[in-house]
Amino acid sequence: MIEKMRVSDLDQIVVIENDSFSNPWTKTYFEHELENNDISELYVLKEGGEVIAYGDMWYMFENCDLTKIAVKEKYRRRGYGGLLLDHMMKTARKKGCEFIHLEVDVNNEGAIALYRKNGFEVVRTRKNYYEAGRDAYDMLRTLIEADKRRILAIESSCDETACAIIDEDLHVYSSVVTSQIDVHARFGGVIPEVASRMHVEQISTIVNEAVKQSGLKMDEIDCIAYTVGPGLIGSLHVGGIAAKSLAFFYDKPLVAVHHLKGHIFINELIKPLSYPMMALVVSGGHTELVYVEDDDTFKIIGTTLDDAVGEAYDKVARVMREAYPGGPVIDSLAKEGKEHYQLPTPRVDGLNFSFSGLKNAVTQLVKKEEDLGRPIDKNDLAYAFQEVALNTLVTKTRKALDMYPCKSLVLAGGVAANSRLRELMEENFKDIDLFLPPLEYCTDNALMIAIAAVHYLKHNKYADYDLPSQPSMSIED
Ligand code: KG4
Ligand code: ZN
Repeated sequence: MIEKMRVSDLDQIVVIENDSFSNPWTKTYFEHELENNDISELYVLKEGGEVIAYGDMWYMFENCDLTKIAVKEKYRRRGYGGLLLDHMMKTARKKGCEFIHLEVDVNNEGAIALYRKNGFEVVRTRKNYYEAGRDAYDMLRTLIEADKRRILAIESSCDETACAIIDEDLHVYSSVVTSQIDVHARFGGVIPEVASRMHVEQISTIVNEAVKQSGLKMDEIDCIAYTVGPGLIGSLHVGGIAAKSLAFFYDKPLVAVHHLKGHIFINELIKPLSYPMMALVVSGGHTELVYVEDDDTFKIIGTTLDDAVGEAYDKVARVMREAYPGGPVIDSLAKEGKEHYQLPTPRVDGLNFSFSGLKNAVTQLVKKEEDLGRPIDKNDLAYAFQEVALNTLVTKTRKALDMYPCKSLVLAGGVAANSRLRELMEENFKDIDLFLPPLEYCTDNALMIAIAAVHYLKHNKYADYDLPSQPSMSIED
């Protein structure tokens, strides 16, 4: 069993150390490595309480230095050194290291053979490195082509409970989503307390199902990701607790993902994104133009001053006594609609949006027609609302691209499923590399959180257990 070294192991270790090296580390030095050296991590391989092998490594950004590895004399040449080395290399890889490096006495043939067998190569000889003028080899291996890290991601920010497992190459092992829409539809919108209770009921089943479908065991997963915000506090909390419990129990690093980054990065299922990039984020809670300088730098250059566009869809559907969520309903009603009703185009300076005036105009129009005893033509009203709302999105996006020239444009969020919006984007943005997310992944899912997590891993952005859920987190944070 390989575990982190403890002070209580040191008495045994010092004996092995003295047997193995001509200039052994002292107990005090080991204590310093364990307790005071922030960049070091020490492991022991034990059987029945007996220390068989141990090692120390230092993390230095993308490089990991293997500063010590030793096997108790009577256990040498039995594969224990290889086991420990493999564990340490995998740990370094999980922490984002790209290289692993060590120095070894040029005369230590057993150790050199072990390192060669594990992919290390001699990169240079250091003359007189050890006392008594002995030389050392610098040996190095890259960790990049080692196993791609696998990520289990959880999404629970609103009314979908979801779990997905992928690897860094975006190979999808599983993606499971369950929606509470049917329950909330009865109330005409998401009821937060009901949502969090349903997440509690669903989360274990969904995670189990995703693991089962992946065909993987938990020890083959390298990292746990979850949506930290924005979203409903209770709902976020359920996914956060589940992710933290898994990370703690299985000793995996934790990644806290911004929900909207998930909506943006799901576009990578199509092909790699190019930067700088403009993202038009349109969901139930957000309407934002985000200038994405690179995969870690997000700037909000336009946002709604009141309702989100998805919210406006939902409210307009409600006024028309149609089911929740309103987006898909209005989308299909509008297909049969024609120009008939006049609605005001929102007037907001710059790159910001406003949809509450449009929503109120729809409400007033419906009331007026009802007062006059005239039946509303739902198709025509859906058409009118949609043309105004969507053309506003297109106009502002064009303006944003004029101000911030970009290599690509991505559409993101639940409203990206809208057939008319997809059509308008294609018609209006022929001059830029345009990404429209795959239809089945426009609304909330955990695959998008897993793909975003790949970028967090790339930048070594891990979360602590005490990080709280953040219901109104900005994408710039
Ligand atoms: O991204 P999402 O699943 O949840 C949030 O993060 O908010 O987006 C849900 C929103 C809802 O407002 C829903 O009405 C809207 O996306 N939506 C649509 C369509 N499908 C979903 N809006 C317009 N047309 C659609 N086809
Ligand atoms: Zn969403």
